[in-house]
Amino acid sequence: MKRLDQKICLITGAAKGIGQAIAELFHQEGGIVLISDIDDTQGRALSKTLPQSEYHHLDVKHEAEWQKITDYILDKYGRLDVLVNNAGITGFLETKGPFDAENVDLASWQEVQAVNSTGVMLGCKYAIKMMKASGGKIVNISSRSGIVGIPLAVAYAASKAAVRNHTKSVALYCAEKGYQIRCNSIHPAAIMTPMWDTMLGKGEMREKMIKDVEAGIPMGKFGEPIDVAYSALFLANKESKYITGIELTVDGGILAGSQGKPTE
Ligand SMILES: NC(=O)c1ccc[n+]([C@@H]2O[C@H](COP(=O)([O-])OP(=O)(O)OC[C@H]3O[C@@H](n4cnc5c(N)ncnc54)[C@H](O)[C@@H]3O)[C@@H](O)[C@H]2O)c1
Repeated sequence: MKRLDQKICLITGAAKGIGQAIAELFHQEGGIVLISDIDDTQGRALSKTLPQSEYHHLDVKHEAEWQKITDYILDKYGRLDVLVNNAGITGFLETKGPFDAENVDLASWQEVQAVNSTGVMLGCKYAIKMMKASGGKIVNISSRSGIVGIPLAVAYAASKAAVRNHTKSVALYCAEKGYQIRCNSIHPAAIMTPMWDTMLGKGEMREKMIKDVEAGIPMGKFGEPIDVAYSALFLANKESKYITGIELTVDGGILAGSQGKPTE
C-alpha cells in the first residue's frame, strides 16, 4: 500500500525546488496533490506531468486566497489530509534590502515576514479548519536559519524562527483540543534549488562559491530537494503517528556543531 494512498495533499510554493520534489514524491506515494504557487506557468507545467494533481494559484500572504482554496477543497473533497507550508523567500531577489541587522530595510523585512511567517500562520489556520473533523498532518518548512542567527539576512532568519515556534503552538493547540492533527517543522540547509541562484552567481564564480559553501558542510556537499521531500513524507504519513511539535533538521550535519578537524 502506498503511504499517501488517495490522501488530499496541498503543497504551497510547489512549482519548483523543494516544493516540486515534495509534490512529485507525494504523487508517487498515491496522494492527490494540489500544487499551489504564484508562478502559474511552472506550476501548471508540473501539474501536467502528474496525472493525479491539480494546480491552483495561491499567494500565501493573502488570507482571501486561503479562504478561496479552503472553500474549493471542502466543496470538492470534504477534507484536507496533508498541508505542506513550503513557500518561502529570502527577500534577496524579491526586495531591495539592505538585509543586515544594522541597516535592514523595513519594507524588505515586512515582505519576508508576510510570505514566510504570516503565510505559514494562515496556512495552519485554514488547515485546522479543513482537518479538524477527520484529522491531518501539517508540515512547515522552516530552515536552519530558524534555529541560528544569520547576521546578513535578519528578516529571513527571524521569519523562519517564527515558523519553528508557531509549529509548536499549533501542535499543542491541536493536541489540547483533541483534534487528530499533528504539526511539525523541517529545517533544511544548503539544498540545491533555484533559491540559491542569486547567492551563487554564475560561471566560474558559481563553482567557487559552491566549493566555499560545501567546505562548511560536515557531509561535504549540497543536499537535494528529494532529501527534504523524504522527511516531509515521513511527517505526512502514519509512520510518524506519535510525533508532533518536533523540528527535523535536513542539513548535512551543519547544526550538529563545529566540524572536528584532525590535529595531525
Ligand atoms: N534551498 C535551501 O537551501 C533551503 C534551506 C532552508 C530552507 N529552505 C526553505 O525551503 C522552502 C522552499 O525553498 P526552495 O529552495 O525550494 O526555494 P525556491 O525559490 O526554489 O522555490 C520557492 C517557491 O515558492 C514560491 N513562492 C514564492 N513566494 C510565494 C508566495 N507568496 N506564495 C506562494 N508561493 C510563493 C516560488 O514561486 C517558488 O516556486 C522555502 O520555505 C525556503 O525558505 C530552503
